[in-house]
Amino acid sequence: MKNILITGGTGFIGSHTCIELIKKGHKLTILDSLVNSKKEIINLIKKIVDKDIPKVSENIELKVGDIRDLNFLEEVFKANLKKKQRFDGVIHFCGLKSVNDSVKKPIEYWDVNVLGTINLVKLMIKYECFTLVFSSSATVYGNPKKNPIKEDSYIYPISTYGLTKSTTESFLLDIYRQYSCKLKIAILRYFNPVGAHESGLMGEWPVGVPNNIFPLLNFAATGINKTFQIYGNDWPTKDGTCIRDYIHVMDIATGHVSALSYLLGNKAQIITLNLGTGKGTSVLELVKTYQIVNKVRFKIDFIQRREGDIVEAVADNLLAIEKLNWKPKKSIQDMCRDGYKWQKNFLLGMRN
Ligand SMILES: NC(=O)c1ccc[n+]([C@@H]2O[C@H](COP(=O)([O-])OP(=O)(O)OC[C@H]3O[C@@H](n4cnc5c(N)ncnc54)[C@H](O)[C@@H]3O)[C@@H](O)[C@H]2O)c1
Repeated sequence: MKNILITGGTGFIGSHTCIELIKKGHKLTILDSLVNSKKEIINLIKKIVDKDIPKVSENIELKVGDIRDLNFLEEVFKANLKKKQRFDGVIHFCGLKSVNDSVKKPIEYWDVNVLGTINLVKLMIKYECFTLVFSSSATVYGNPKKNPIKEDSYIYPISTYGLTKSTTESFLLDIYRQYSCKLKIAILRYFNPVGAHESGLMGEWPVGVPNNIFPLLNFAATGINKTFQIYGNDWPTKDGTCIRDYIHVMDIATGHVSALSYLLGNKAQIITLNLGTGKGTSVLELVKTYQIVNKVRFKIDFIQRREGDIVEAVADNLLAIEKLNWKPKKSIQDMCRDGYKWQKNFLLGMRN
């Protein structure tokens, strides 16, 4: 059993990863300000894990607070020490993630994404925790010259969000230089995580108006929104819509479990890995598959291209497969089915 700190653990990817980590027998301290997630997620995580292993959820603790608050963060590390424990590792999900929002509120994005990570790493070093898995993003590649994108491709983010991620990566690389005999860091660049836990008991549950594609598909499918909007049908692709590498959130979750165990079992290093399926799907293909798999119909509106969008981003995932002994297993159909199941079973129930 390892003692792991999960920042942003009540968020979309964090919560699904917690399930897999608990199943592997780890003890988790989740830190989250709940700015984009709900406290109730903890109960959903507990419900899912206790089904498989009774009472295993006793190994989860939630600390509510802001990662920018150094005193609060230090209390989390100190509380652990009082129990004569040390964190064996940190998975750092916490961050602000909307490309559009980041352009409107750049200071907030720099503050949370970059300063938040600096605070965390400062305390990790002070309290002698040297293993870190960091949530980065394919947005660091900007508009890639070539697809699929390899990890050593040119880094040229075109949004504030992407810049905060590439800057954090540079910060970690630089800190690693000073602590190269101790630090173990995995930078994971996710492509497009979607879907939900296969039970339909947990999924993406953002605060306020959603930005991401699956909550919006779910809203269209259940009549909360009248239509589903696609940004542009004049891109140079087979159907005119953008191409993305959608990956099931549970495949992302198992990727983190593998990355953590890879780091814990290896010598000090910093490694950067793409987490994607390596397969491109157009937005229109995704929407149509969602409609077919779930037997739902809704109107699709094609609207103007969004500023900052790129035509195609597909991962070269061979390095992650080789290093992590991991492979994405779920199909686009699985992503569509599980994402809708969550909306239908849970969110609609909550509204009624
Ligand atoms: N979802 C994606 O499409 C995607 C793609 C690439 C990278 N990422 C990155 O992965 C990470 C997790 O993404 P997600 O989709 O789960 O996002 P999310 O918004 O669902 O989860 C992030 C969590 O961080 C918390 N948080 C935000 N600011 C905080 C602060 N100042 N202090 C403490 N907690 C704070 C939020 O409340 C939320 O629970 C993020 O760093 C994101 O940038 C996400």
